[in-house]
Amino acid sequence: MTKRGGEPGLIGSLWNAFTETNLWRSIIRQPYPNTSRTRALAVMNNVFLHLHPVRVKRHAVRYTYTFCLGGVSFFLFLVLTITGLYLMFFYIPSVDRAYQDILSIQNSVAFGSLIRNMHRWGAHLMVLTVFLHMIRVFYHGAYKPPREFNWAVGVFLLFCTLWLSFTGYLLPWDQIAFWAVTVGTRMAEYAPLISAESNFILLGNITVSQETLIRFYVMHVIAFPLLAAIFMVVHFWRIRKDGGISGPV
Ligand code: HEM
Repeated sequence: MTKRGGEPGLIGSLWNAFTETNLWRSIIRQPYPNTSRTRALAVMNNVFLHLHPVRVKRHAVRYTYTFCLGGVSFFLFLVLTITGLYLMFFYIPSVDRAYQDILSIQNSVAFGSLIRNMHRWGAHLMVLTVFLHMIRVFYHGAYKPPREFNWAVGVFLLFCTLWLSFTGYLLPWDQIAFWAVTVGTRMAEYAPLISAESNFILLGNITVSQETLIRFYVMHVIAFPLLAAIFMVVHFWRIRKDGGISGPV
């Protein structure tokens, strides 16, 4: 920060003095990143940037190798979390209120219709992208050693995605939601040994009712988003530990 003549002004002098302090050095820990080494340091010393490796293989950043399907799934998860948070302000999981609340989100809440549609379409899209991501991983044989564990983590993430989609489906408490969940949970009755119990555990009752709504709501807004987030952290960490994205080199 210099004046036109080359001399620093008051603000420039204060700024230069600040960049000499210990406080500044404790925040910005490396010199200006203009060499290979200082660029690597800038990435490693930043909490957000360090999620990416300092160096990546050329094929791994080629769009057509992954189609960024895992990345898009993660992006959709973030969109769903933010839009879901907004919807929570206007939705009460009670059989007397739920359907009315959805109508008022659609018709009277500011940006309600937009946010609800982003949430609903985002959810459909996430099921699709996670599924396509799994097919891509399978096609590249990336489930083979050393990535078997990450494949298993992925299977759990697929289960979480489908379960989030299913539990969310009941929340509008309209006819299609009620009957879809009735049919879906009736299937659990065919599980061997624990048929009656599994149905009761899912519904909290013998039919779809208030107990089911609150159960699905808690699983939809807290339990499974949290589990999915924890497993995504493990998934991303494993990619790094397994030597980055699979590939020919
Ligand atoms: C919420 C769901 C998921 C998210 C957010 C996610 C995210 C990611 C991301 C960002 C990558 C880096 C490469 C890429 O973008 O393709 C990746 C890689 C990988 N994912 Fe997933 N994933 C999910 C579900 C799954 C599923 C369902 C499976 C398999 C059953 C799976 C197995 C793998 C494996 C094995 C890799 C390493 C691939 C390689 O090295 O080529 N993931 N995942």
